[in-house]
Amino acid sequence: MSDKKPMHPDTKLVLGGRRKEWLRGMVNVPVSRTSTILFDSVEEIHAAYPPEDGRLSYGRNGTWTQWSLAEALTDLEPGAAGTRLFPSGSAAVSIALTSVLGPGDELLMVDSAYGPTRHFCDRELKRLGIATRYYDPVATPEELEAMISDKTRAIFMESPGSLTFEVQDVPAICAMAKKRGLTTLLDNTWATSFFFPAIAKGVDLAIVACTKYISGHSDLMMGAVTAAPSHWERLSRTGRSFGQYVSPDDAYLAARGLRTLGVRLRQHELGAVKVAHWLKDQPQVERIIHPAFADCPGHEFWRRDFLGSSGLFGFALKGAETQRATGWSRAWSYSALATAGADSKASPSRQSPIPSAPHPNVITAVRWCAFTSVSRIPTTSSRIWPRPLPFIQQAEASIRKKAAQKGRLKRVDGKPP
Ligand SMILES: Cc1ncc(COP(=O)(O)O)c(C=O)c1O
Repeated sequence: MSDKKPMHPDTKLVLGGRRKEWLRGMVNVPVSRTSTILFDSVEEIHAAYPPEDGRLSYGRNGTWTQWSLAEALTDLEPGAAGTRLFPSGSAAVSIALTSVLGPGDELLMVDSAYGPTRHFCDRELKRLGIATRYYDPVATPEELEAMISDKTRAIFMESPGSLTFEVQDVPAICAMAKKRGLTTLLDNTWATSFFFPAIAKGVDLAIVACTKYISGHSDLMMGAVTAAPSHWERLSRTGRSFGQYVSPDDAYLAARGLRTLGVRLRQHELGAVKVAHWLKDQPQVERIIHPAFADCPGHEFWRRDFLGSSGLFGFALKGAETQRATGWSRAWSYSALATAGADSKASPSRQSPIPSAPHPNVITAVRWCAFTSVSRIPTTSSRIWPRPLPFIQQAEASIRKKAAQKGRLKRVDGKPP
């Protein structure tokens, strides 16, 4: 047994994918653009195939710029075999699904899935002869098991769900699926592997839209799928067969974003919780839908399994206020397409995406945002947090100390700090 101390996730973020042979003397793995690779002999060409990360063969198979990012993402998922990159989060979802499903198969898809994921199932999978059955995001593993037929091949989870934020019991669903020989896929975009290492929880294919928190600066599109050893070969083969590729420039930017994922996510978390608490007290607001709030469906699974919450949550307006949602959205919006950068956005949801959901007036607030200004801070963690997170408390203490030193601290309740 190795007596090496496991690396802290923050350290992994900084060191991941920085192999000496890829750095070649530089601090960051450089952008290497190419389509064609030059070889010195026919033997070398033969040795370069089949394509493999870490071995130059042809531009589409990547260079160290893409391999390094993929390796850094894999490092965040204990137990994973590897990561493949895709030109968008949606491409990552659709290729991951295609890698495990074939004609005649059936997929169990969570009813709170991201809209385009749903469209892919209802249009493309259907066209390929693959049936999708939607399940309630709060379904227990037993209820899900009762839905399994002899055609069911896979269960897709998104936790928390898009817009309605139900948190699923991912480990229990995975354990049940494994027993029944089914593949599990998880859209882990909200938490990322940093707040929810999915492979260690039993997920076979963990998907992240790197467009959001991984990149973190609203300037690129990318997706990633990290696979358990049992699913790596198939995922890799399918990705290559569909010619999936990301540019080295985007891979470089995403890797640069990844290095600061920890500090950004914690700031997202603080900002979102502050805004959610402010919204909770507004007369127009019916309820907050945030996994860290005790009344969020599946909050107990968030408490048990997640290492933090991110910047995206929802709120439901009281009926009459729904008409003003667009105005609210504009008032909140600093950028029309804010995506996990240092800006905020609220976007109205026309209808709840879940026909059976009890909150039709859902607004997705603070979409992938970070609040960088800390002129007003929450009074105490225990007031805003259902559970005290040590790093939130530390962050608050340090913010309070610095602000007090500079004499610019204002408490929300107006009392001196
Ligand atoms: C949960 C979730 N999954 C997947 C995606 C798709 O990512 P992309 O926009 O990179 O295709 C998004 C985009 O908002 C998302 O919110």
